[in-house]
Amino acid sequence: MNPFDLSLETIEELVQQHGTPIYVVSRKKIIENFKRLDDGLPAVKFFYAMKANPCHEILQALKEAGAGFDVASKGEILAAIAAGADPAEDLIFADTVKDPKQIAYAHSIGLDDFTFDNHSEITQIARHAPGAKVHLRIIVSNEGSVAHLSHKFGADIAEAIPLLQAARDQGLVPRGISFHVGSQCLDPQRYVEALNTTRGIFDEAAKVGITLKTIDIGGGFPVRYIDEEIDIPGLCRTIREHYRKLFGEGSGRTCDLMAEPGRAIVGDAMILVTKVISESVRHGRNWLYFDDGTYGSFMEVLLYQMKFPWRTNTQGSPTPYVLAGPTCDSIDVFSRDSAGEICTVELPEMHLDDLLIAGSMGAYTFSESTRFNGFEPPKFVFID
Ligand SMILES: Cc1ncc(COP(=O)(O)O)c(C=O)c1O
Repeated sequence: MNPFDLSLETIEELVQQHGTPIYVVSRKKIIENFKRLDDGLPAVKFFYAMKANPCHEILQALKEAGAGFDVASKGEILAAIAAGADPAEDLIFADTVKDPKQIAYAHSIGLDDFTFDNHSEITQIARHAPGAKVHLRIIVSNEGSVAHLSHKFGADIAEAIPLLQAARDQGLVPRGISFHVGSQCLDPQRYVEALNTTRGIFDEAAKVGITLKTIDIGGGFPVRYIDEEIDIPGLCRTIREHYRKLFGEGSGRTCDLMAEPGRAIVGDAMILVTKVISESVRHGRNWLYFDDGTYGSFMEVLLYQMKFPWRTNTQGSPTPYVLAGPTCDSIDVFSRDSAGEICTVELPEMHLDDLLIAGSMGAYTFSESTRFNGFEPPKFVFID
């Protein structure tokens, strides 16, 4: 079940038991989300992007369900191993900007799959993980996605063949192509276009004697926050059918498929329960201050103007509020409009000790929370 649908009575009991702020998580929902992708794309090997939520119990549940992990650092590698992952079988190092010490560490424990998008990364990987298998990440359109990643990552398409050749010349094994259509991708056409581009690179690479064998279709699979129309089986069907058309039997270029979903696996499997710890009226507006905020779970509000569904445990008349966190920074306000400006949101009247329940809080909340001002992230409470 989506924990956002828990009764108020249950949520209040959990608060009595554990205090606030808490994350309430459904392991079953996480596995259901994973299986939906796994069933929709049976030819794909999934590496959960643990940057979305690296909570140990979540990693363990996904490992048991058959997932591998996309890691970005030694810290993530250690967390994945603690959850039972085998570095050689279950991990890919898919961040294109890697600390060389961490490349060397990964290599020393058998992790043998790195992603790159420029010449200096080839040099670093060849120095610290000689002979490793590599994926070239290419730029693809992120239009229509909430978090754009192609500003910072991905090689220009014109650079793809020279980069693959350079990797081969430095003793690496070019294994395939990877892309990321942007996080919370709301247009399936992005995957279709990215596969088309990939097919072109496979053909060009073959002409220079490089046989590519895998496509890593990245992450981007979306989650319902407010009223987005999300159809994961439909999205999987689009990807499956287009892949078959371009790379399937008879195309002369069959290959293995991988993916690195994060948000779609954990996003709607966790809620946040946070409490009003202070209130005031400032410049004619009602402000509520909570025991969690921007430096805790709501970083994506600041970064991407993300909107989360809210409930409260109150029943008063609708009242406009500015919602703020507890830290000593005035940027710590998590009611913002689509331009990122502070705004009010209407909630049933709230006062000290009342609870705000935020839904779809599983991805990029805990993992992006800071220790600013000494505030600890919320405690995890599992309901199944
Ligand atoms: C390299 C890489 N892989 C996978 C992901 C996961 O993306 P998502 O959570 O949109 O599925 C990200 C997100 O930033 C990423 O940078």
